[in-house]
Amino acid sequence: MTKSGSAYIECSGLFKIYKAADLEVVALRGLELTVQQGEILAIVGASGSGKSTLLNILAGYDAPSAGTIRVGDFDLLQMTNKEVVKYRRHEVGFIWQETSRNLFPYLTTLENVELPMVIAGSPKTERKKRAQELLDIVGLGDRSSHKPAELSGGEQQRVAIAVGLSNKPPLLLADEPTGELDDQTGKEVLELLNKVNQDLGTTILIVTHDPAIATSVQRAIAIKDGKTSTETTREVSYERKLNGETTNTEEFLLIDTAGSVQIPRDVLNELNIERKVKVDIKDGKVTLESGD
Ligand SMILES: Nc1ncnc2c1ncn2[C@@H]1O[C@H](COP(=O)(O)OP(=O)(O)OP(=O)(O)O)[C@@H](O)[C@H]1O
Ligand SMILES: [Mg+2]
Repeated sequence: MTKSGSAYIECSGLFKIYKAADLEVVALRGLELTVQQGEILAIVGASGSGKSTLLNILAGYDAPSAGTIRVGDFDLLQMTNKEVVKYRRHEVGFIWQETSRNLFPYLTTLENVELPMVIAGSPKTERKKRAQELLDIVGLGDRSSHKPAELSGGEQQRVAIAVGLSNKPPLLLADEPTGELDDQTGKEVLELLNKVNQDLGTTILIVTHDPAIATSVQRAIAIKDGKTSTETTREVSYERKLNGETTNTEEFLLIDTAGSVQIPRDVLNELNIERKVKVDIKDGKVTLESGD
């Protein structure tokens, strides 16, 4: 569901401050992000930059401290407890990095996929049918009676994707979904996420350290110190890339609503810029010159 004409996800000036004892940690500081319905997006960045914080807020697990954040028709800063339950049940699916955290060990794969539908009150025959269909989509239709321990790590993550999709959420969030997998298995999980995005039209956000993921989706956003800093876009879709087409990659710095840009440290060093900069326009281009 999206209000007509607007983006599916809109975050602006988003702050998250954690208070631990008498220490405050600013995990997000004025983050801006816009995502269109049906996009598949990678979120990259150094450890501690705020990636999981953003994803947990988008999942409805954690509340932001300030700013605006809207997903579809939900205002995530203003949700009542009842709306949070509805949001988490129907709007989003979530996949954790730890394979063991996604599935209940004593339930079969079919029961695991059915569980969110049980909680949402779907009729039994309908949910069994959908759970089997989802297992077929993730290529594990013949493993419906297996317990998670009887599956490989990659297979468990594929079941986790099916669980995440069970209530047909328009948004799927994955925090380092291939972090515990070897390269080949990780690639298969990534291919599955791309397939889900194309076949079901699900909007997907993947947090990753893995350059292979970041370079195989249409758009990758880098988070630095709790803000979105750069965006890398590609012209060729993942499917066409698999068919051997080369990609044209372009990297952009992002400007926030206040007009701020994070200029990379190496650029500043090269120009000996420390505290002040002179901005000019020459031949239709913006130039920066040290003002120190
Ligand atoms: N519950 C919490 N209480 C206090 N500080 C927290 C909490 N969760 C995260 N932080 C801090 O917020 C900052 C951002 O953490 P976050 O987990 O979002 O980083 P990340 O980009 O996901 O890192 P990684 O790649 O290591 O998973 C870090 O400095 C972290 O220590
Ligand atoms: Mg993290």
